[in-house]
Amino acid sequence: MTSNLVTHGSQEIVIFGGAGDLSFRKLLPALYMAHLHDKLSASTRIIAIGRQDWSREAYLNFIDTHSPSFIETDAFDAAQWQSFLARLSYISMDATQATHYAKLKAACPQSLLRVFYLATAPSLFAQICAHLASADLIDSLARVVLEKPLGTDLASARVINTEVGRYFEEHQIYRIDHYLGKETVQNLMVLRFGNSIFEPLWRAPHIRSVQITVAETVGVGSRAGFYDGAGALRDMVQNHLLQLLCIVAMESPISLGADDVRDEKLKVLRSLKKMNVNDVKRDTVRGQYTAGACAGEAVGGYKEEDKVPADSRTETFVALRATINNARWANVPFFLRTGKRMQKRQSEIIIEFSEQPFTIFGLAAHHQPNRLIIRLQPEESIQLEMMVKEPGSGMNLNPVRLGLDLQHSSDKRRAEAYERLLMDVLKGRLTHFMRRDELEAAWMWIEPILDGWEALDDKPLDYCAGSWGPGASSALMAREDQKWLEECQ
Ligand code: BG6
Repeated sequence: MTSNLVTHGSQEIVIFGGAGDLSFRKLLPALYMAHLHDKLSASTRIIAIGRQDWSREAYLNFIDTHSPSFIETDAFDAAQWQSFLARLSYISMDATQATHYAKLKAACPQSLLRVFYLATAPSLFAQICAHLASADLIDSLARVVLEKPLGTDLASARVINTEVGRYFEEHQIYRIDHYLGKETVQNLMVLRFGNSIFEPLWRAPHIRSVQITVAETVGVGSRAGFYDGAGALRDMVQNHLLQLLCIVAMESPISLGADDVRDEKLKVLRSLKKMNVNDVKRDTVRGQYTAGACAGEAVGGYKEEDKVPADSRTETFVALRATINNARWANVPFFLRTGKRMQKRQSEIIIEFSEQPFTIFGLAAHHQPNRLIIRLQPEESIQLEMMVKEPGSGMNLNPVRLGLDLQHSSDKRRAEAYERLLMDVLKGRLTHFMRRDELEAAWMWIEPILDGWEALDDKPLDYCAGSWGPGASSALMAREDQKWLEECQ
């Protein structure tokens, strides 16, 4: 294993919600991987905070039972795992009680760098920050990491930002969108700005349309309590899909510096045309899954999930057409789509180039536009769909894909998003985190859609679990002579 030891001094990572799902599924496995690859300094400690009245041993037992299954089998090493657990301590406290913070203060007396990871309900963020400040735990080096959902609308996002901003400066605040930590998403910047061949074509009129799909096969499972109050637009589009759209659509930043990149993404968010009720009716499709089959297994509908009200109108699928009002993207539709219980787990961005203005091959020739297919997950690849001559007599055309398999293009390890982002926090790199104005601009675009749905007062359309969503989603594309990628094959 190569040594890549970070040379900073003592660090404390304090995780509020230390016994929650996110901690044992994502954060601790990510920190274990960083430990395994010598990315944590020897003195880095992790303090988990939870309400459970547990001893340190009881907490370690809990983590030892729950976390290893979220670590890749090849990467799990029993001795390394034990040495990782030695970094962990546990404080049982009620984060809403100011007096309980004395325990935390006593546990981290003279750390150089404190990172507070708030993996709790956002309704607690303001209180936690206020109590940290009263306990004198926030200094100019301290950092706070905020997990989504950051608000349910613009007003609530503003409240969270203002409250947290009372105690932390903007450069100390790390708003996580884990999509920004994915290798392929970061690679999108290199694809666009590190290669000269695409940039001249990366605009109207050379691009006919852009589609962004994040399809999942999972249902809402045990998260219905949260999800039913959120829905796909807030849970996925407001953050992950809009961030992908920003990276596809932004101008080249003047550097990779955090503010330079975030300034450019912000311009895209501000250029998105806000929808009125008529636009919402025409350009958005909401769906909710009904019973069906996913990955070969029969699954129930959304309303049959535990804790979902029988009359729920929450959308588990959304497809929409977005318009970017600037010169680069004039008249180029951006189609966004995400859903649970869809046919495949698949996240991809499709850039469809405009057709040639004239063909010498005759109308009967099987001609189709060039497409750049950027697959983010499950496999990571880039494919360029091109026309070639079909072997044989005549000049028949055939589409083929030039492929780049990113997963196997290097033997270097590809870190998971949370590991990468946590390391960025420790190193003070803000580029892959959302700035306050970005988050609020995203809500400014989302809110009229939520208002439009409320005004229209219609129910989401049913779609069968295991399908690609309601038929209206295909109709949204067909109207502009476009198709989702799976419909083109
Ligand atoms: C989360 C959403 O932010 O992203 C979940 O809250 C969703 O509903 C998840 O399942 C998808 O992440 P990934 O990395 O599995 O695509």
